[in-house]
Amino acid sequence: MLEDVEAVILVGGKGTRLRPLTLSAAKPMLPTAGVPFLAHLLSRIRAAGVRRAVLGTSYLAETFEQGFGDGSALGLELTYVTEEEPLGTGGGIRNVADRLTAETVLVFNGDVLCGTDLSAVVETHRRREADVTLHLVRVPNPRAFGCVPTDAEGRVLAFLEKTEDPPTDQINAGCYVFQRKVIDEIPAGRPVSVERETFPALLAAGARVWGHVDNAYWRDLGTPADLVHGSADLVRGIAPSAALPGPPGERLVLEGAELARDALVFGGTAVGRDVRIGAGARVEGSMLFDGAVVGPGALVRHSVIGYGAQVHDGAVVIDAVVGDRAIIGAHCELRHGARVWPDVALPPHGVRFSPDV
Ligand code: GDD
Ligand code: MG
Repeated sequence: MLEDVEAVILVGGKGTRLRPLTLSAAKPMLPTAGVPFLAHLLSRIRAAGVRRAVLGTSYLAETFEQGFGDGSALGLELTYVTEEEPLGTGGGIRNVADRLTAETVLVFNGDVLCGTDLSAVVETHRRREADVTLHLVRVPNPRAFGCVPTDAEGRVLAFLEKTEDPPTDQINAGCYVFQRKVIDEIPAGRPVSVERETFPALLAAGARVWGHVDNAYWRDLGTPADLVHGSADLVRGIAPSAALPGPPGERLVLEGAELARDALVFGGTAVGRDVRIGAGARVEGSMLFDGAVVGPGALVRHSVIGYGAQVHDGAVVIDAVVGDRAIIGAHCELRHGARVWPDVALPPHGVRFSPDV
């Protein structure tokens, strides 16, 4: 158990591609499998035995505080620190240093859904007497992440953030163990990237930087497609979480929702409060926020339907995001990355998708 370890969670920076679309609040507060996204991470931190966590944010701090308060409902002592200007990942960590009391600190990117055994990561850190230990995973597309080659023992050889020609598919999973003294050495009061500045500098100085590689569930939820898939994985129990409000299954249905008896709702769909799904509708692996409506015969797949948005009879919505309160008229067809802004109303038959040239 990790009673003597504190956690820092980074949320902020450039914001999210989803935000203009649906979303009255910050992405970490988006309902994901029935609870704010960040609740899944916080519950895992608590389940590992950590008691104190600091949320380092550069935006919307009030929203987080309203959502989680002092953390007691989660069994955590939670404090919040807001940057006046975004300080980057390293600056964000440095900016919370005066709130930390532990010698060993777990740091998390707040937009990652992950099932790693946190005790095992800390155990590697202690066994290696490391200055910093990085949780590493293997992914098919390492160019989009921080590439981290290690030697046969697991010592980190280099840190290459978003490099065109990654030498390995092993990447930074966005969870670190820091010795407190390393945090204190990050320059204060200016933006610092932990990936582009701190890690390369530590390696150049010969610091003990180790990797902890495993096969845990892992997904960065930086894009709408990843958010939708991550949510479905949570609902189905593929992504482990102690915060899922119900047993894992093909769908999670919150109070007040009404699903027609012959509606097919599956694939890890999260159905928010007071949602209505009509007869013969088919909803697969999607997120339907509170008050959304899916009309009779409509098809919604791998999509986000915002608060109070309506998908009318026979419409098709696949791999799309429908903003809050938007209306997709009957028999419209949206596919492949379509984004509908909040409050926009598409008339019946108003849009179709065709691969014809
Ligand atoms: N407080 C604060 N201030 N947080 C920030 C800031 C900032 O200025 N900038 C970014 N963050 C937070 C983001 O909210 C996110 O939780 C985390 O730091 C990482 O930032 P992203 O912008 O999501 O980075 P990324 O996904 O492109 O890459 C990072 O994560 C990958 C794994 O998901 C890097 O750490 C990569 O090396 C890593 O592979
Ligand atoms: Mg990210």
